[in-house]
Amino acid sequence: MILYFSGCGNSKFVAEELARLTGDRLMLINPLESAPKVDLSSGEALGFVCPVYSWAVPRIVSGYVKRLEINAQPSYCYLACTCGDNVGRTPERFAKELKKKSIALDAAFSFVMPETYVNLKGFDLDSDENAARKIAAVRERLPQVAERIGRREKVVDVVRGKVPWINTYVTNALFYSLLITDKKFYTTDRCISCGLCAKVCPLGNITMSGDYADPQGSVKQGLRPVWHGNCTNCMACYHHCPNNAIQFGKATQGKGQYTFGMS
Ligand SMILES: Cc1cc2nc3c(=O)[nH]c(=O)nc-3n(C[C@H](O)[C@H](O)[C@H](O)COP(=O)(O)O)c2cc1C
Ligand code: SF4
Ligand code: SF4
Repeated sequence: MILYFSGCGNSKFVAEELARLTGDRLMLINPLESAPKVDLSSGEALGFVCPVYSWAVPRIVSGYVKRLEINAQPSYCYLACTCGDNVGRTPERFAKELKKKSIALDAAFSFVMPETYVNLKGFDLDSDENAARKIAAVRERLPQVAERIGRREKVVDVVRGKVPWINTYVTNALFYSLLITDKKFYTTDRCISCGLCAKVCPLGNITMSGDYADPQGSVKQGLRPVWHGNCTNCMACYHHCPNNAIQFGKATQGKGQYTFGMS
């Protein structure tokens, strides 16, 4: 059984490919589920596939794992995390979270994919060439990882980057307390009121409203997205918008969009 979460499609792609190559079942993580349940059959492996947010598994995934009820111990448990650059000590931190559920993490793999984080000055998408290079490397790595999962290899094979401990334990805490917000989202006049942003939000954080505030704070008429404060900055709304009508403060101005399959 593979449980996966994905904002912009990278992890979805990895999860689907691993499921195809290993023959395992696939289940989407719904972070809004209050009492998620998983029924493993005897000898079945359990895989988690998700992006890395600030050098750790996204908090909405950790929260889901905390609430998860599993009928049996998996025969083998692994994490396959996607990232733009590196993952720090994501596996070790996630292993501790799983240990609280009496599950041992046997293996962890990282997949370096095109960047999705654009909410800060200096953080941008990969060039088309870079994105294509990353995806080609991942396509090559997937069968190897699937084969290692198949033979239940116990290994941590990830790109850690510099100062992994500081990033996973210190930067991550600062990131969540200082930078994760939806207060900076707004729509430009390019919005065509299609509602896709609301549809793709994994947290149901967006509704379409008849009145909306423009960036200057004046109220205007028309169906536009409204953000409600329960956001993890997965950037699905921003990247999926068909008309690039969503902005995050000044940070996203002039930046492009990316979802897997559209680059
Ligand atoms: C909020 C946020 C935080 C991120 N933090 C990291 C990070 O710490 N290290 C990294 O290499 N990439 C980071 N990224 C990039 C994503 O992990 C990467 O693009 C991932 O493949 C996106 O997966 P998805 O398309 O399944 O959502 C971050 C992206 C977002 C949106
Ligand atoms: S996805 Fe874009 S165009 Fe569609 S409603 Fe949302 S902001 Fe407007
Ligand atoms: S509001 Fe946008 S960035 Fe926030 S969780 Fe929903 S889709 Fe992700």
